[in-house]
Amino acid sequence: MDFIFLTCAAMTLILQSRADCPPTRLKHEWLDSFTVNVSWDKPAGLQGEVQYKYCPVKDCKDKGVTATTIRSFTATCLTEEWDSDGWTYRVWTDGSQVCNSSNESKRVDITFRNRKPKAKVVEDFRCVIHGNETDCTWTPVDPLLNLMLSYRICGKDLRSLHQCSQFYSRGARTGCRLKVDARKEICILVETEAGMSTFRPKLEIPSPELSVTEEENQLRLVWKRPDTGKKCLWNYELCHTQCSRSRECNNLTFDEEPSIKMPYDEMCRYEFQSRVRTEKYCPYISSDFCEVVTYGTNKPPDRTQTVIAVVITIILCICVLLSCYCLRRHSAILCPTIPDPSVIFKEMMMNGNKDLKPSPGNLYTPVPEPVESCRITPVNENNILQQSV
Ligand SMILES: *[C@@H]1O[C@H](CO)[C@@H](O)[C@H](O)[C@H]1NC(C)=O
Ligand SMILES: *[C@@H]1O[C@H](CO)[C@@H](O)[C@H](O)[C@H]1NC(C)=O
Repeated sequence: MDFIFLTCAAMTLILQSRADCPPTRLKHEWLDSFTVNVSWDKPAGLQGEVQYKYCPVKDCKDKGVTATTIRSFTATCLTEEWDSDGWTYRVWTDGSQVCNSSNESKRVDITFRNRKPKAKVVEDFRCVIHGNETDCTWTPVDPLLNLMLSYRICGKDLRSLHQCSQFYSRGARTGCRLKVDARKEICILVETEAGMSTFRPKLEIPSPELSVTEEENQLRLVWKRPDTGKKCLWNYELCHTQCSRSRECNNLTFDEEPSIKMPYDEMCRYEFQSRVRTEKYCPYISSDFCEVVTYGTNKPPDRTQTVIAVVITIILCICVLLSCYCLRRHSAILCPTIPDPSVIFKEMMMNGNKDLKPSPGNLYTPVPEPVESCRITPVNENNILQQSV
């Protein structure tokens, strides 16, 4: 009984130690300001090839996890791509091969900081690529602070690190011409005595030249292909106005030559503006809008007939007005004043017949007839009798 128990205990111990065999003595070393090397020792008691896994703690799911059999890795650690003032990586042993058929070991974390505290020393840092040179400009946060700028192509090639030797001023911005082909993604270090900042700059190219030609009643727009060394998939944002219509923008991508055709209205003036940005296969590079490219002129539509009609109408109106004016001036001759019968009638109604005032002039005025006074002498009866007697 005792023997069996002991054997079981021993077996459990062995299995446990095997199941939990994390990497030990993790350490880090900055290879330069951008790159860190994290390494560790083999778990005690393990023989043969061991597989490890690691991830940055902020991204420990699926794609963030890397598997390796080498006991170290290098990582590009940029201050502007990390939230806090330090980086934490997590490393563990993939136990499926050596430790235990299914278990992975306990996770071991390592946190490290860069040699100077993270500090925002520049703002709005932008680089325009001109072939093998790159023109970078920025606004210093504190112009009084002495600034140093180093750069190299991101990745493991530490030898390509350069320092900016000469700064120039352009308004409120400071600039430097970097001797590096930024189409291969560059890492920038700006530092003052007190702090540092490392980042990948915003990359721009001059807007590709756009030419517009007329072809069989259509407009053909052709862009000069941006020169970015390797083949990128570019997105062209084309905005245009036509006559007085509002500005309209479209996103275009081309497999082959960057060109399009569009219907052309000869009565219209066209204004084009475009900008590009990488969509795939390249680091993000964009351009500003180019200068406005115009084509054609606005022509008024054929309005001759309308114009004639309007002119005739105006002339007619003037004639009518002139006739009215003449009529008014010579109205005494052309049409004498006719009394308004309604006025007369109204007056008649108001005054009745007793006080009929004749209108001056034209109304008939009864002239009183001279009446001979008639004397009637009463006849005396007696006289008659006398006469008859
Ligand atoms: C990283 O560090 C380990 C251990 O010091 C070393 O063996 C390895 O060569 C280093 N890797 C690089 C890329 O420097
Ligand atoms: C074109 O793409 C840009 C960037 O994604 C977007 O802001 C814009 O709205 C798009 N324009 C059209 C017309 O879809």
